[in-house]
Amino acid sequence: MASNFRIAPSLLSADFARLGEEVRDVIAAGVDLIHFDVMDNHYVPNLTVGPLVCEAIRPHCTVPIDVHLMVKPVDRIVPDFAKAGASIITFHPEASEHIDRTLGLIRENGCQAGLVFNPATPLAWLDHVMDKIDMILIMSVNPGFGGQSFIASALAKLAEARKRIEASGRAIRLEIDGGVKVENIGAIARAGADTFVAGSAIFGQQDRAAVVRRMREELARATMPA
Ligand code: DX5
Ligand code: ZN
Repeated sequence: MASNFRIAPSLLSADFARLGEEVRDVIAAGVDLIHFDVMDNHYVPNLTVGPLVCEAIRPHCTVPIDVHLMVKPVDRIVPDFAKAGASIITFHPEASEHIDRTLGLIRENGCQAGLVFNPATPLAWLDHVMDKIDMILIMSVNPGFGGQSFIASALAKLAEARKRIEASGRAIRLEIDGGVKVENIGAIARAGADTFVAGSAIFGQQDRAAVVRRMREELARATMPA
């Protein structure tokens, strides 16, 4: 069973006019990572922020920045995010012509690398790169927007990804992104996730510390022996 859970609020649902303050607020609430969604209006039908904004929030971030690239092509922008302070960079395999090269590029730039799987994207993309990844991100919504509902088939996919990680014997993180809330985080943890992205569930509440505390209570309950 996974331990050492990490909660990663997605800035997509933060107040972009007060981003530094929002980052400090959730870090004070006890989160483990800042999830930074990069959308290009090409790979996904929405447009967000780039390396300049990553660099701007960096002085406010005492936790690692987890950059989720929803862009095509991928490689051009990787070194820019590494310089802007990313600790982890994940990308969608469909968006890169040369997945092995992109994973290598991320690591050469001093970051941890990961692949992201859309709801209909098979985990077979992992077959030949398990030794080159530090994180697997399972999407439980179609990427592009915050506030969507959790797609239940992601639970079986998490379990399959967890099996692959265990078989590899490597310390690969298993992250879930989309529709994560206090009400379903326990079931998601039981399916095998150890890192939980939550945008609207955290930034949509005034008292972020209360949400994070309730999420950790659910996670503790989910891993208690029956
Ligand atoms: C969606 C993004 C998510 C999004 C999650 O494409 O990758 O990180 O912000 O938002 P919620 O938690 O509201 O579903
Ligand atoms: Zn994301």
